[in-house]
Order: sequence, then C-alpha cells, then structure tokens
Amino acid sequence: MAGRVENKVAFITGAARGQGRSHAVRLAQEGADIIAVDLCADIESNHYALARESDLAETARLVEKAGRRILTRTVDVRDRGPLAAAVEEGVAELGRLDIVVANAGIAPLGGDVEPVGFLDAVAVNLVGVINTVEAAYPHLGTGASIVCTGSAAGLMHGGADNPQNGPGGSGYSHSKRGIARFVHDLALQLAPRFIRVNAVHPTNCDTDMLQSAPMYRVFRPDLADPRREDVEEAFRSLQAMPVPFVEPSDISNAVLFLASDESRYVTGLQLKVDAGALLAMSTSGAPA
Ligand SMILES: NC(=O)c1ccc[n+]([C@@H]2O[C@H](COP(=O)([O-])OP(=O)(O)OC[C@H]3O[C@@H](n4cnc5c(N)ncnc54)[C@H](O)[C@@H]3O)[C@@H](O)[C@H]2O)c1
Repeated sequence: MAGRVENKVAFITGAARGQGRSHAVRLAQEGADIIAVDLCADIESNHYALARESDLAETARLVEKAGRRILTRTVDVRDRGPLAAAVEEGVAELGRLDIVVANAGIAPLGGDVEPVGFLDAVAVNLVGVINTVEAAYPHLGTGASIVCTGSAAGLMHGGADNPQNGPGGSGYSHSKRGIARFVHDLALQLAPRFIRVNAVHPTNCDTDMLQSAPMYRVFRPDLADPRREDVEEAFRSLQAMPVPFVEPSDISNAVLFLASDESRYVTGLQLKVDAGALLAMSTSGAPA
C-alpha cells in the first residue's frame, strides 16, 4: 500500500533530534525522502546543549532504515546562503521538493540570560523559519505544504512572557506569536498557487528542550536546582488533560496530516497539539 506522502520530498530543519527527527522518520515511514538540516552546535545564550553531528547521523540512519533516502547538512537556519545551498543540493539529489517543516528552535530561558537572548530566540525561531521558507520557495509548486512549528506558549497570555523567564523567554514568546501571524498572512498569499501554509503549536513535548535545567527552573522557580522528578506535577498542571507532556510522535502525526494530500484544502490553520492547555489557560476564545 502506498504511504501517505509516497515519493514526496520533505525539507526539515532541526532534524538531528527531538521533534525534527521524529518528523523525518514518520514522513519517511509514509514514503517521503528527506532533506535534513541542523546546527549541530550550541548557542551561547541558550543554556542547554543543542544537537551534535552524531544526532543528525542517527536521524539519517533511522530514515534509511525506513527505506527512504536522506541528505543531511550541518546548517544554521540563521544563515540564508548555506540554507538555500542545502535545499538546492537536496533537490538536485532527490529530484523535487513538496514539504517544508520549519521546526528548528531554541528556548534561551532564564533570568541570568543577557538581553541578546531575546535577539537569538527571534533570529532562530522566527527569522530562521522565514529563511527556511525562503530557501524552499523557488522549488515549491502546486500541492506543496509548508508546516511551521509554533508553540502553545505563543498563543497564551503570560507563560513565556513572564519576566522571570528572562529576555530569551520573552524572545521565545515573541517569535512564536510571530509564527502564528506569519503563517496566517503567508497562507493567504500562497493559496492561489495551491501552496498551503499551516502551523503546529505543541504544548510541553518530551524532548531535550523541555527536559533541560532552564526549563525546569521556569516550572519550579521555588527550587534552586530542580530535577526531572521535581517538575512532573508542574508540567502536568499546564494541560487540561492530565499529562505532563505529549510525545514527539504526537506532533509528527499532525505534521504528517498537514504534509499529506489528505489536508489539501487546509491552509492557514493554527493546529494546537496541546492536550487542552490553551482551553485551561483562557476562556477568551470560548464559544458563547
Ligand atoms: N519541547 C517542547 O516542549 C516544545 C513546546 C512547544 C514548541 N516547541 C518547538 O518545537 C520545535 C522543536 O523543538 P524540540 O522540542 O524538538 O527541541 P530540541 O532542542 O530537541 O530540538 C531542536 C533542534 O533544533 C536545532 N537547532 C537549534 N537552533 C538551530 C539553528 N540555528 N539552526 C539549525 N538547527 C537548530 C537543535 O540543534 C535541535 O536539534 C522548536 O521550534 C520548539 O520551539 C517545543
């Protein structure tokens, strides 16, 4: 039986680990070849380790194990030239481009982060997404699908806007709000060309970004050095469904739907995969 994205090619940023790797493997399982990029290095204002080359190699191994081809490049989404070159090489090797998953992100949280943390978060999470779409755009045609990763944090009041989360937390929130707006407005522009643009907005998702010391301190500001076991209840309190976090595969299933032709008339959607987090936060969008 043909896969749900059979013989399509997907360009995925932040693909070395976490959600990006999960998206690469899930799309490959459904028949797509993959162009995978990641920074594979740290960013100074972001106080937890980012992925390494070995992580990107592991993504490649898993995609090939699923029976599909993959081209990997170590690229910073802030660098437009190398990003465009990676896409061009990928298209030359794999033959086409149908799907863009602009997923790379950082969360430089903490009161000890310098103001440059705001700029770094915006540069990676928002400008990096725009760079990704720009790099892909010349290769996209009718039926193409762009999926940008936002965050439930960008759709809620407070949260990452909280001053105790520092300049990087504010930059994170700003960048994710920007994603929602960018997706909405770009979707309208690209609709006449049958190119779709949608956002996925995850709540807490069980990746290295969530399971990090700066994130633990945001959820347990009362403790000097909170550990994984200290945050479980605080993580859980965010969602209306009583889970501490969702899995990367939950986000990948949403990405797969948006990437496939099953959603061919779905564009401009802000798809929350948040176990009801935003329902629990605010009643502002509730039906009367
Ligand atoms: N984990 C969560 O709780 C959560 C919640 C909502 C939204 N998100 C978003 O999901 C996306 C994926 O994050 P994740 O949870 O998989 O975390 P992660 O840290 O495991 O993965 C992020 C990946 O992006 C890469 N990356 C960072 N900066 C980059 C750059 N400048 N250029 C290229 N690659 C870069 C990292 O090396 C890493 O592999 C991010 O956009 C994040 O903001 C995460």
